[in-house]
Amino acid sequence: MSEPRHILVAVAWPYASGSRHLGHLAGAYLPADIFARYHRLQGNRVLMVSGSDTHGTPITVRADQEGVEPGEIVARYHAEFLDNWEQLGISWDLYTATDTDNHREVTWDVFRRLHEHGYIAAQPTLQFFDPEADRFLPDRYVEGTCPHCGYSEARGDQCDNCGRQLDPEDLIDPHSRISGAVPIMRETEHYFLRLSAFQDRLLGWLESRQGWRRHVQNMAIGFTKEGLLDRAITRDLTWGIPLPPEFAHLGEDKRIYVWFEAVIGYLSASKEWARRNGDINAWRQWWENADAQAYYFIGKDNIVFHAVIWPCQLMGYEGLNLPTDVPANQFVTFKGEKGSASRGVGRSITWYTERLQPDALRYAIASVLPEHNDTDLSDDEIVRRVNEELVATWGNLVNRVLSMTAKTGGGRIPSPGALDSDDRALLAGVDTALAEAGSQIEAVELRAALRSVMEGAQEVNAYLNHKAPWKTADGDPERTATTLYVALSAINGLKTGFSPFLPFTSARVHSLLGQTGSLGDGGWQRVALQPGTSLPPPEPLFAKIEPVDLA
Ligand code: MF3
Ligand code: ZN
Repeated sequence: MSEPRHILVAVAWPYASGSRHLGHLAGAYLPADIFARYHRLQGNRVLMVSGSDTHGTPITVRADQEGVEPGEIVARYHAEFLDNWEQLGISWDLYTATDTDNHREVTWDVFRRLHEHGYIAAQPTLQFFDPEADRFLPDRYVEGTCPHCGYSEARGDQCDNCGRQLDPEDLIDPHSRISGAVPIMRETEHYFLRLSAFQDRLLGWLESRQGWRRHVQNMAIGFTKEGLLDRAITRDLTWGIPLPPEFAHLGEDKRIYVWFEAVIGYLSASKEWARRNGDINAWRQWWENADAQAYYFIGKDNIVFHAVIWPCQLMGYEGLNLPTDVPANQFVTFKGEKGSASRGVGRSITWYTERLQPDALRYAIASVLPEHNDTDLSDDEIVRRVNEELVATWGNLVNRVLSMTAKTGGGRIPSPGALDSDDRALLAGVDTALAEAGSQIEAVELRAALRSVMEGAQEVNAYLNHKAPWKTADGDPERTATTLYVALSAINGLKTGFSPFLPFTSARVHSLLGQTGSLGDGGWQRVALQPGTSLPPPEPLFAKIEPVDLA
């Protein structure tokens, strides 16, 4: 086997400002988990990190609306996210938050180093100011029409519809979300990140990336070609990470811009993980070793921050690995509309975990991942995917073969006779499906990988219909034993292929096949079954979803 690789699985940090919906799950968390689980099975050294994004105006706007402290909002949703991850089996190496001392220290280190290298400087600037509320209006405190796409609810920092970064003065018809007033421009001073200094280097780097999704590479290149502008990385706010003390003379009521520090979370979380594991230098393997790879799992509204600004921050810092790939997903839409936590489109992850088996939900989402196009996901589609594919093809296959084995094989894995060409072709087909799914996952084509494994399951069903072991049971027990042995072996291989997608039920298949030890010990391959191994009584893997379950 080849040397284990170091793979950083860096996953977008959800704002702890409200429940996350299925679009977030499909956009970042589930694909990251599938990818990480696969690489662990391959024997690679995965470090999968993220945490709650506890700063920024999404949090303070919500707190203002509810009349509570921002900290209360953060605590509520951070707890909900932890529960979501546990329910769904999202296998973080560390899920932390941006309100830790460690994250502040690492953010300060990056800030200082970029300043030392000449990439951060203070500069006077005009910012929106609400004359009625008598305060500055950073980011989401102003709404208006996007000058690029005409979306009427664009925010001061970003248009959620077309994903463009905005400067507040770009907005058409701006209004304050606090008072509704038309904001005026007032002078203030902020620290700026000199993105313009990276223009050529960044463009060269982006253009030379191989294997990136076209929509990601095009967007990042297009954005860069428009010309990188220096951007303010502080805000007139009292919630967030303060400036390093020696920079605080600009004013007490200034905080580091949430996007400048949140992306640094990938690094700070890696350091926190290392410290918790008793080797404070362990993070370096993923960040300083040039052979390590870093995959950033995000939704497309975050492309600019991860494929343009974060690489500039890293280039300016020097000595840390740039992203290997940023496999950003397009949007999941709900009846054609983009899901939005702040606008209440798309139901929460929690709503679904309270109603569905985790693997059923994981399956439905994985089968429609919006890897190349926006994809609609209705509840009807979830029911159809689960009942007509997962249950009908895979669940019933496992159940049928295990029940037949219990009846005819005395509760043990049967001893096969000589394998015929059908038998050998089936097992070869399963091995091919595993290899193919493996390469697809490496290329972050997860939806296609799931289809490859599912097609393997369909082949086993076709094989069974052809061999009809229920007909041979009386007249030809040896043929029956061989057919069941081959079918069980095929299921054992497919279980591994399904396991990144369906971790809970794959572990159950593993034990229903009488296998001890953990599924992962077998690696990404079909492990041969020992005839005579005793089997526990079979039980169904999945329940069919009744439409009332999602009513
Ligand atoms: N909190 C942001 C969002 O929900 C994502 C931040 S990703 C990070 O859109 F890397 F910057 F943290
Ligand atoms: Zn827009």
